[in-house]
Amino acid sequence: MASSSSRPGNVGILATYLHFPSTYVKQSSLEEFDGVAAGKYTLGLGQEQMAFCGPREDTTSLMMTAVSELLTRYNLTPNDIGRLEVGTESLVDKSKSAKTSLMNLFRDNTALEGVTSMNACYGGTAALLHTVDWVESSAWDGRYGLVVCGDVAVYEKGPARPTGGAGVVAMLVGPNAPLVMESSMRSSHMEDVYDFYKPKMDSEYPIVDGKLSNSCYLRSIDICFNRYADKFEKTFKKPFSLEKDVQHAIFHLPYTKLVQKSFARMAYDDAKRSPQSSKYAAKLSPFLNMNIEESYTSRDMEKASLEVAAQDYKEKVFPSTLAGRRIGNMYTGSLYAGLVALIAQSNDSIIGNRALMFSYGSGLAATLFSLKVQGSLEEQRKANDLINRLDNRVEASAKDYTTAMELRELEWSRPDAAPSTHPTERLQAGEYYLSRVDALHRRYYERMPLAASTMRTSARAFSTLARRLL
Ligand code: ACO
Repeated sequence: MASSSSRPGNVGILATYLHFPSTYVKQSSLEEFDGVAAGKYTLGLGQEQMAFCGPREDTTSLMMTAVSELLTRYNLTPNDIGRLEVGTESLVDKSKSAKTSLMNLFRDNTALEGVTSMNACYGGTAALLHTVDWVESSAWDGRYGLVVCGDVAVYEKGPARPTGGAGVVAMLVGPNAPLVMESSMRSSHMEDVYDFYKPKMDSEYPIVDGKLSNSCYLRSIDICFNRYADKFEKTFKKPFSLEKDVQHAIFHLPYTKLVQKSFARMAYDDAKRSPQSSKYAAKLSPFLNMNIEESYTSRDMEKASLEVAAQDYKEKVFPSTLAGRRIGNMYTGSLYAGLVALIAQSNDSIIGNRALMFSYGSGLAATLFSLKVQGSLEEQRKANDLINRLDNRVEASAKDYTTAMELRELEWSRPDAAPSTHPTERLQAGEYYLSRVDALHRRYYERMPLAASTMRTSARAFSTLARRLL
């Protein structure tokens, strides 16, 4: 606990945990089942697998599992947490926030500020920014902040369906973090647009204008990139260079191809901003004076940008796409799942590096910010055990996935449907699940028994977190 006179420094992310359903479908199986050309989802969208929930899982149950795993794996107690902020857009209630449903996990610790932030895929970033601001403010009480973000991303049958997924990230926020938020440089762009929205209360599915959402995403990159670069130059009193000042770039990932195009777009922005010094400028020179609207539709410019950025994409971006490629879109959790994926595939050699983080939520709200790696991420690598857990999931057929979607549709339109009639055997040890919904639409959750191995893991003290508090 910090004394009230001391100010916290190096505020950022101390711990992460990514939870996802244990069942997935291969995108190549979906291509065949949907009767689309082979390669459309795998090569065209860049997706490999898609996680999906059974009838006993919803966003709240995924969040409960993520929070309890984070507390256990980092040897924390509920009383260590002083703020709990949630981001999600898969609402099961228009008034009672998902945050309140998590309160059961905090026992007598009811002094927990924070509620749920909602704006499509941006809610997790709103929750993170609120929490960092709280730790940096005079309202901070010396305890950790906890951010929980994620969604069940489902689309009706059609071209958007393979860009679904499901997962939740829990993140511990506090001072002296190994991932420090560079608050002075965060840059936002917000506007009013209908690219993806959910006006139908009797359906879980969004209305989506996919092409419009892609162009809004790229426009937001342009604007945020330039605002970030301006702030960087003001802060460090030197020109900003995508090549030299950024070692990792992580993006909100609806599908991997969009991330690849987005990094290429940043290379184009860098070339336009610094035509004399950008390493990308020479090969993009024919396009640097192009009208901005034309630049969004020019295939020649897109191809040249993808080519010039290809090597840097492989090194600086591709590792972070692992979670998105194998789980799919997690909406509010997607960007932070990218961070967990980067951690899973790196070692302490990344200490000193900067990671750009691009958050996009339709409607729209976008922010570009950066994290500086200032300490070892080994503890997070171990606690997440990401690749092992991804490899140990159960593959379902495309037919089973489609049946699961049909069941969700049916039960969504019938709030009195009884989840308790569905079996729980597919759920893993220690996972929370929806046990019943009563006649007043109140939702109840229970936990699967812990496995002996999980209990052993819990007993192990991974954590050095307590020492990091002031
Ligand atoms: N082999 C290889 N590539 C192929 C094949 C094939 N057999 N078939 C198609 N492709 C390529 C296409 O050329 C296209 O590439 P391009 O993007 O470079 O042009 C790509 O695959 C996608 O094919 P399209 O025909 O353009 O895809 P479609 O229109 O059917 O759907 C879309 C794509 C719009 C992204 C859809 O999946 C969607 O609406 N998704 C949800 C919206 C979304 O995720 N938006 C992103 C930001 S908002 C958010 O996060 C929710």
